[in-house]
Amino acid sequence: MRLPLPTKTGSDATPAPTGPAVRLLFNTVGDALARVEERLQAELRSDDPRVDAVVRHGYRLGGKRLRPALVLLAGDAIGSLTPDHDLLAVVVEMIHTATLVHDDVLDEASLRRHVDTVNARWGNETSVLLGDFLFSHAFYLASTIEDSARAAEACRLIGRSTNRVCHGELRQTLSEGELNLSEADYLAIIDGKTAELCACCCRLGALFAGADQQVTAGLEAYGRNLGMAFQIADDLLDLVGEEEETGKTAGADLAKQKITLPLIYTRDSLVNGPRNSLETWLRAPSTTSRAEVRKLVEAVGGVAYAQRRAQEYAELAVSELAVLPAGSARDTLAQLAYFASRRDA
Ligand code: IPE
Ligand code: IPE
Ligand code: MG
Ligand code: MG
Repeated sequence: MRLPLPTKTGSDATPAPTGPAVRLLFNTVGDALARVEERLQAELRSDDPRVDAVVRHGYRLGGKRLRPALVLLAGDAIGSLTPDHDLLAVVVEMIHTATLVHDDVLDEASLRRHVDTVNARWGNETSVLLGDFLFSHAFYLASTIEDSARAAEACRLIGRSTNRVCHGELRQTLSEGELNLSEADYLAIIDGKTAELCACCCRLGALFAGADQQVTAGLEAYGRNLGMAFQIADDLLDLVGEEEETGKTAGADLAKQKITLPLIYTRDSLVNGPRNSLETWLRAPSTTSRAEVRKLVEAVGGVAYAQRRAQEYAELAVSELAVLPAGSARDTLAQLAYFASRRDA
């Protein structure tokens, strides 16, 4: 099945919803998302004022809340939401935030969600512990689901998925500086570090709404493809995005010699001098390399290539929605996949 694109592509394209605009897509689950927000604030507290400041950091402005929205939208597409959906949405956002807090240590990033990263404000030691605090709290919460068989299933799925996320981050860290990283290896890394959790969110949402195996698998595949599109778009933003819009440190991948899709395409399209220049900039990143690399990548078509691949994953995601009946829930999920591939924040 191929749903029509919500907006045109090409130079006269209407921009895809970005930043807070993506929240419009979350309208149908707006009440549940508000409850999730409240619960997050309530859970992330400490009697110790200094610990309290750390655990609440980053929740003030908040991120896009994409993963909770996936749990809720997948559940809503199947039937009615249950209190378990709210709880699971809280849990996945905590896991996601834990991975970001640790990721910012790995990337030595200083800006996240438009505020200082935890490592920039309190240092790496605090970041490691906050990440641990969030991971452990998330699993504790998942275990409190009233029906013990369901609690065990949720912990099993989230545990396996979180493990794969960490595996993806490990692979990426161990590949830093590998200028010859293949596209297949790149795709395997982002499948683990990003697509996996999006897939898990959709699986949980569907499963806890009583979806059968086939529909659950379809929604999980939707989430995985959406996650692939989302990370390809993220890697493009690292190269061409503006910090004022993304709210996070730009050029972190280049600084850490992480080879992403636009670079892979550009590298493979170049020979001789231009390829040597690219490799020199990648090997010794400096404050000027981002602008230089960006120019080269744009000229060679690396940006357009990555955009195309992201769009292809969005289309794959949409094709998986054939397991759902036509209607507004399916349309919203389709638009969300296109948002993931074309966002600028
Ligand atoms: C950032 O995720 C990490 C990636 C997987 C690219 P988001 O872009 O969803 O971050 P928030 O939650 O909106 O801050
Ligand atoms: C990290 O990828 C994805 C995670 C699973 C944490 P990135 O390093 O690209 O994420 P950002 O750009 O810092 O948000
Ligand atoms: Mg990062
Ligand atoms: Mg990034």
